[in-house]
Parts: sequence; structure tokens; C-alpha cells
Amino acid sequence: MDVVILPSAADVAAYAADVVAARIAREPDAVLGVATGSSPVGIYRELARRRREGELELARLTCFALDEYVGLAPGDPHSYAAYLEREVAGPLGLPADRVHVPEGSGADLEQAAQAYEQAIAAAGGIDLQILGIGTNGHIGFNEPLSSLSSRTRALALSAQTRADNARFFDRPDDVPTHCLTQGLGTILEARQLLLVAQGQRKAAAVAAAVEGPVAARCPASVLQFHPHTTVVLDEAAASGLTLGGYRRPDVAGRGDAEQQRSLDDPPCS
Ligand code: GLP
Repeated sequence: MDVVILPSAADVAAYAADVVAARIAREPDAVLGVATGSSPVGIYRELARRRREGELELARLTCFALDEYVGLAPGDPHSYAAYLEREVAGPLGLPADRVHVPEGSGADLEQAAQAYEQAIAAAGGIDLQILGIGTNGHIGFNEPLSSLSSRTRALALSAQTRADNARFFDRPDDVPTHCLTQGLGTILEARQLLLVAQGQRKAAAVAAAVEGPVAARCPASVLQFHPHTTVVLDEAAASGLTLGGYRRPDVAGRGDAEQQRSLDDPPCS
């Protein structure tokens, strides 16, 4: 696991965008796994800026969402499908049919979960999966005690996750109770993982994920099994880490040759 600690949330977005851009430069038709929530928004805006300014070609990209709420009407602005249209498809110039989202509004959730796994496989698997982390250590919506080898499925959201996500809804009771999410086993099959976290409220979950034992009580700890994971943190999100040896690249030197080498060949993976 390559853990990179940077001074600010803006630095996290720029660094993580560099990781994504490096992958797309090598593989212009890459399959990108896209997280929702507030954590990756800066990455998407930075990628969109680079595209606008002609620095990055994204036209051949395909995207797969990590998860979706169950029970929201199609087109509901709180759905992750709507989020991805706003933050990813539009700004990155992708046709809507190249951004796949699990079907959380249908009647047969088991069938929707299987269809989603099949769609990922038919696309050749995910090359780079962007991840945030919940305050309880979830990735996607894999809540504590999720099987570490789980596949895409429907499950209930924890009280903590519903409370955390209430800020995106008008009333706390409006937060859906269930979701469809890629499983931890599904996420581990992506060829490269990129987790970003900003702010003090993520510090305990990040410490458990990076330094804790691999355990279902902190689902993100399963990333320790993956051979190519980059974790990009601001100082606040990193403040619960107690071991030394994490990388603190000179952000003023971003873009130099040394930095590019480290993006391509994480030293501790
Ligand atoms: C949400 C999403 C996750 C996201 C996490 C953190 O509920 N399902 O994919 O990474 O929780 O959210 P945020 O980035 O808003 O803190």
C-alpha cells in the first residue's frame, strides 16, 4: 500500500488526478470505477479542467459506479446516477451510456446485482477504482461485517452511514435505508485502487484501514490485500496514523520526473 500524505484537500485532489491521468495516458480506453460522495469531487473537477484545457483526452473512457441507493425514483437528484451525470459524465464529456450505475430502482435487486457484475466483466474489468471511505470504514456501501469476499449485492445501510449522508438530503428520514453496492471481492478485482480521504472525521477509519488488522469491522482494511493501492490523504485524515515511513511528496515539485516515476511505480506495493 502506497500511502501519500499531503498538506491540503486541494493537494489530495491534484495528486489523485495525476494518478488517474497517468493511467488514462497509458490506457486511453481505460475502465474507471467512480466513487460518489464528497471525497472524489475535487478529482473529477480537476480532470474536467484538464480536459477543457486540452491536457487530457477522456473520450474513450468507460465508468462504473461503486454503488447506488435502493428505492429512489429514476432521475431523483439524490441518486448516485444523477450525481455521476452532474459530476462525471457531463464535465468529462462522456455519453450517459458509458457511465454504468447499478439499477437500484427496479423490483429485482438480485438480478440487478448480477447484471452489474456481468457488465463489469464484459467491459474487461475495472482498471482503476477510485474510492472514498466512510467514517465507519466502509468502502462503496460495504458496511462493517461485510464479507471480505462479497460481490455486488443489496444490503441495509448502517445508522451511522444514514446519519453521515443526511447532509445530502432535505430530512434525515429521506435517506434511503438500503443500497446496491459492489462487494469487497468485486472491488479487489480492480487492477489498481486509489483511495482518497480528507479531514479529521476520517482519521480513525483511515488508521484502522491502513494500520489495523484486516478485519470485517473495518471493510477498507481489505485493501491491504491488494497489490496496487494508493491512499492519498490530507494531514487531518492522516492524523490517526502512528507508524512512520509514509510518503510526503514535495507538492511544489509536482510534475517533475521523480514524481512521475513514483506515480507509475508505487514503492511499497
Ligand atoms: C458514501 C458512499 C461511499 C463514499 C463514502 C464517503 O456513503 N457510498 O462510496 O466513499 O460514503 O462519503 P464522503 O466522501 O461524502 O465522505
